Amino acid sequence: MEKRKIILDCDPGHDDAIAMLMAARHPAIELLGITVVAGNQTLKKNIVNALNVCQLLGIEAPVYAGMKRPIMREQIVAADVHGESGLDGPVFGPLHLKAQPEHAVRFIIDTLMQSDGDITLVPVGPLSNIAVAMRMEPAILPKIREIVLMGGAVGAGNSTPSAEFNLYADPEAARVVFSSGVPIVMMGLDLTNQTVCTPDIIDRMQSVGNKAGRLFADVMNFTLKTQYEVNGLAAGPIHDATCIGYLVDPGCIELHDMHVVIDTNEGPCYGRTVCDEVGVMKGRVRANAKVGMAIDTARFFDLVEECIRMYD
Ligand code: RIB
Ligand code: CA
Repeated sequence: MEKRKIILDCDPGHDDAIAMLMAARHPAIELLGITVVAGNQTLKKNIVNALNVCQLLGIEAPVYAGMKRPIMREQIVAADVHGESGLDGPVFGPLHLKAQPEHAVRFIIDTLMQSDGDITLVPVGPLSNIAVAMRMEPAILPKIREIVLMGGAVGAGNSTPSAEFNLYADPEAARVVFSSGVPIVMMGLDLTNQTVCTPDIIDRMQSVGNKAGRLFADVMNFTLKTQYEVNGLAAGPIHDATCIGYLVDPGCIELHDMHVVIDTNEGPCYGRTVCDEVGVMKGRVRANAKVGMAIDTARFFDLVEECIRMYD
């Protein structure tokens, strides 16, 4: 099986934690590093959450702290969904694990520049780290095999009626990434909201009976409540984990080629992914993204359980 070399860029974050859990152990993935960005909570809180998850699960990938703020707009967080800590729910022991001294953007640039162009970037938070890396060293662009990201939506947003949180938190960064010319696979809300973890799913993963299953339950039981209160969803989707699902089992996700631009104008559509779903721009612009629109949830949750069983 070909191992996909990836850098997971995240803002843990409940669903980020599940993406970390899956990426760290599945044999089809070589997790080169975990870079953290401000998003669901401040960078300071998100880095603690990333280190706690790595320490609990014995994830050995190095962790790097990245951008503390979005490129232009004022900072927003998602405490209403993820809590004051950014990962409310699970209780972790004393934290001993430390982040690496290098900045995440430095790590992304150096790793890509030293590579053969076989590395996939997997951003599942705001795109601040990725955009700054692209601007700091444009020579990385041809070195990026693919960007598989969680963010955006063809339809309604979840931070505003137009915009999904990751892109709304840093629209200018998203515009840099989507206009970079690097191949993009976009897991937007139209796809990721199909992965709600209802109590039966949580019970299934918890009944595996190991630390990964217990963490899954502690994490997803928290967003059971907040995702209903904030987004009216039956339960918390594991948005970010769909990127890992695609990397390991691409056949479980139906992708549509689309031209996607980011609205960075002040106003009700700020941060929106304007997706040409029906191809009205065909012949005038080229599709710059493969957008996930449907997922085989049975196959996906089997993969989630398979990853949980890879822990002792
Ligand atoms: O809109 C969902 C996204 O925002 C997910 O990545 C979640 O972790 C939050 O960052
Ligand atoms: Ca996230």
